[in-house]
Amino acid sequence: MQKLLFNPSQLLTIDTQGKNVKRGADLSELNLILDHSIVISDDLIADIIPNSTVNKNKFDKIIDVTGKTVLPGLVECHTHSVFTGSRADEFRQKLDGVDYEKIAESGGGINSTVKAVRHSSFEDIIKSVKPRIENFISQGITTLEIKSGYGLDFENEIKLLHAINYLNEIYPIDIIPTFLGAHTFPPEHKETRNEYIDEIINKMLPHIAGQNLAKFCDGFCELTAFTADEIDLIFSKAKELGFNLRLHTEQFNAIGGLDVALKHNAASVDHLEVLEDDGIIKLGKSDTVSVLLPGVSFFLKCQYAPARKLIENNAVIALATDYNPGSSHISSLSLIMSLAALNMSMTIEETLNAVTINAAAALRMNNKIGSIEIGKKADFSIFGTEEYADIVYDIGRNLNCLTIKNGEIIYSPNPTLFKFK
Ligand code: NIG
Ligand code: FE
Repeated sequence: MQKLLFNPSQLLTIDTQGKNVKRGADLSELNLILDHSIVISDDLIADIIPNSTVNKNKFDKIIDVTGKTVLPGLVECHTHSVFTGSRADEFRQKLDGVDYEKIAESGGGINSTVKAVRHSSFEDIIKSVKPRIENFISQGITTLEIKSGYGLDFENEIKLLHAINYLNEIYPIDIIPTFLGAHTFPPEHKETRNEYIDEIINKMLPHIAGQNLAKFCDGFCELTAFTADEIDLIFSKAKELGFNLRLHTEQFNAIGGLDVALKHNAASVDHLEVLEDDGIIKLGKSDTVSVLLPGVSFFLKCQYAPARKLIENNAVIALATDYNPGSSHISSLSLIMSLAALNMSMTIEETLNAVTINAAAALRMNNKIGSIEIGKKADFSIFGTEEYADIVYDIGRNLNCLTIKNGEIIYSPNPTLFKFK
């Protein structure tokens, strides 16, 4: 089946010349092509051809995107979308000045969502999560990472991973499961940390590996969660079992997480709000992706990660929503790009590379997705604007008007929705 994505006003290829990542000066370059169309062969990008050479009769289908801007399908590389319950009460406390770590120390925070998840059936969870996935698809997201981490015992972590895998079955986008058993200690193990770590290492990880329920093993290295030595133990076992690794680290305190992640060659380190200068240098020399989450800084009124310094030192930067009920109840990836531009001084071009090719690198999928290059997956996000700057400038508005995954249109807004014209 040959299709043609015909005549976009701007075609942002994010071409990497085979490097499959953007860092340093390349991060400013979107590789914009005018007056070209994209040939799709089944689920792959077959060619990019000048409009002047197009023979429409040669194609089984023409998708006319005149006046629209074409990007690779967006990649949302860090979310906690599978949760139940609400933490609006904590949001109120935060507005009254109580800080996030205080709420966590007094039994709220992650553990309040753990309580809700443990009381939810598999079906309840799926029902809560479906509209969230559909919202991501409507934004042009064609690859979505989701973490467990709100079960924190064998039964409930496995329940969450089954839910993530089931959602991957029923939706046409790629949903990448991450095991986050090391999110924090559940209440029953506050005084028996070693028992919980033992359960992760000897029960959860082997089962998850055996059933192929997760691609990544993640953790949270923080004073209110796991020490660097505890993460080291968990990562050693996870690596042995074949997991890729990533770590929430240097969010509120730098307690050694970055070094452990780098030692184990993690795919990404995420957060980095309090990253120190020597860490910036290390990341500049590493292929580990720095996943920055400006929604968290905005939501918690905390400092932002040092994006400019990371970029100047050649680090690979990605951006994500960190969508979760407690520290970033924000599911709009374009809002995240706007926050990165306004509050971390990233350019519009840098933010767009950070949610495409570099987010794909954080998921170790950058050889297949994240840019419009021949042989890559025919995943596209089509924006209803002639000028790509609008994606970041039109703050909080979803400009995506067509989502294409594996060469198929999977989302277009319902034209009959507004009948009053
Ligand atoms: O990425 N930092 C730790 N975990 C999540 C927050 C989860 C929550 O508060 O429920 C995060 O910010
Ligand atoms: Fe997170």
